[in-house]
Amino acid sequence: MPRKIIIDTDPGQDDAVAILLALASPQELDVLGITAVAGNVPLALTEKNARIICELAGKPNTKVFAGCDAPLKRPLVTAEHVHGKTGLDGPDWDDPTMALQPQHGVDFIIETLRAEPAKSITLCPLGPLTNIATAFEKAPDIIEKVEEIVLMGGAYFEVGNITPAAEFNIYVDPEAAEIVFKSGVPIVVMPLDVTHKALVTKPRNDAFRAIGSDVGIAVAEMTDFFERFDKAKYGSSGAPLHDPTVIAYLLRPALFSGRHINVEIETKSDLTLGMTVADWWGVTDRAANATFIGDLDSEGFFELLTSRLARF
Ligand code: BDR
Ligand code: CA
Repeated sequence: MPRKIIIDTDPGQDDAVAILLALASPQELDVLGITAVAGNVPLALTEKNARIICELAGKPNTKVFAGCDAPLKRPLVTAEHVHGKTGLDGPDWDDPTMALQPQHGVDFIIETLRAEPAKSITLCPLGPLTNIATAFEKAPDIIEKVEEIVLMGGAYFEVGNITPAAEFNIYVDPEAAEIVFKSGVPIVVMPLDVTHKALVTKPRNDAFRAIGSDVGIAVAEMTDFFERFDKAKYGSSGAPLHDPTVIAYLLRPALFSGRHINVEIETKSDLTLGMTVADWWGVTDRAANATFIGDLDSEGFFELLTSRLARF
């Protein structure tokens, strides 16, 4: 039986690759729906981009919902400087023709968790945690029904990418992140510490392009665009594929290693707002609430990703 997942996302080129990886893996993953959230770009673009990617995958029947258009307590911060004006810069995209679902993304999350057996659904947040936290606040009864949350966000050794102290997804909505990390749901975190090791080098990008399909070429073009920012900033050899690590973890957990530790979110300090204070070294007696991933087998990750993308 494939594992039932909801992808909560703000596409974003790396979100797009994560969605493609999930849709390429129906034997293992049943994507019940994709809920868009405001993040890399405003909601009107993230929900549209999610539909563009479902159509690229040849899966226009995938349910895509629009969720929250702003963080719980703060104005939205976006990342066009990384992802371009559309959020999905790189390829030339046609507007999607598949419809957006009429239901609000948060209500879809609540309704689905209530309808399915307890602990049968995994949430996969790839953007700010606004939709998930809003669902938990609105319907606390669903919290215990979640099997697991596997999310991209935060950093410990790499510290921050949007500020010196904070990673983008957590920084955009720290109050939402705090709700999720305190929820008691089993959480697996893909921080920058691991995603910065999932780099699309030139040979890896060539391998995407060599697939030769619309998907392979689009992924190569998206990562071509996306890489210019990280290359300039970090001097790295290519773009980090942050969000696909979440889906790869569901498919091949053995590719990853980490520690079960306490992770708290800074919500007060101006200087370190959105920091994930991860007790990697076990120096407090605060209870562990998350498995914080630190390393991956990058060759294995790219083999998995490229072979799955080649299925389209
Ligand atoms: C995260 O922020 C976004 O820019 C990416 O899509 C990823 O989810 C990395 O910090
Ligand atoms: Ca994202």
